[in-house]
Amino acid sequence: MAIAVLVGSLRTDSITRKIARALEPFMPSLQFEHVEIGNLPLYNQDLDDTTPPPEWTAFRERMRAANGYLFVTPEYNRTIPGALKNALDVGSRPGGKSSFAGSKPGAVVSVSPFLLGGFGANHHLRQALVFLDVAVLQQPEMYVNKALELLDDEGAPKQDATKKLFEKFGAAFTGWINRLS
Ligand code: FNR
Repeated sequence: MAIAVLVGSLRTDSITRKIARALEPFMPSLQFEHVEIGNLPLYNQDLDDTTPPPEWTAFRERMRAANGYLFVTPEYNRTIPGALKNALDVGSRPGGKSSFAGSKPGAVVSVSPFLLGGFGANHHLRQALVFLDVAVLQQPEMYVNKALELLDDEGAPKQDATKKLFEKFGAAFTGWINRLS
């Protein structure tokens, strides 16, 4: 099962990307493919009406080919980063031809160095995914807080509580993918 991973941060040393990588070993039967979103020109319908940028076309094809989606995002100003919103917009168009169509399974993980764990971003993302017809895993909700303290030098969870949460999420998401595929 090929799962497209969309990370909401473009930063080289992103803690969000590290958390995404740390989750993957807890889902050994799934194949994760990180998809670049930082290269996508800002959505502008004029380009769809003339010549869509090749980066849009490649991104749309990868979204269409995926068996499911894992969204791992930081919170920017209590919502999702613009780069991630742009990726959703690009993937959703042209109208009636969304590359996310098909009620495919997905999951949302929000990540923050602070206490709230990106709750605002998590739910804003879920709101858009309802419209995009991505079937988002409900439980466990993943608000990964104090993220800078969670991983060791190898990028694995340090504490048992984090491991247990990642195990719970991994089992639930794997089951969700298998159930809906
Ligand atoms: C942030 N940050 C942030 N954090 C948070 O928990 N809630 C928020 O609303 C915001 N808002 C916000 C806006 C902008 C523009 C930036 C750049 C940052 C802090 C953010 O969580 C922190 O920079 C993380 O390290 C970003 O994730 P990556 O890039 O490390 O994955």
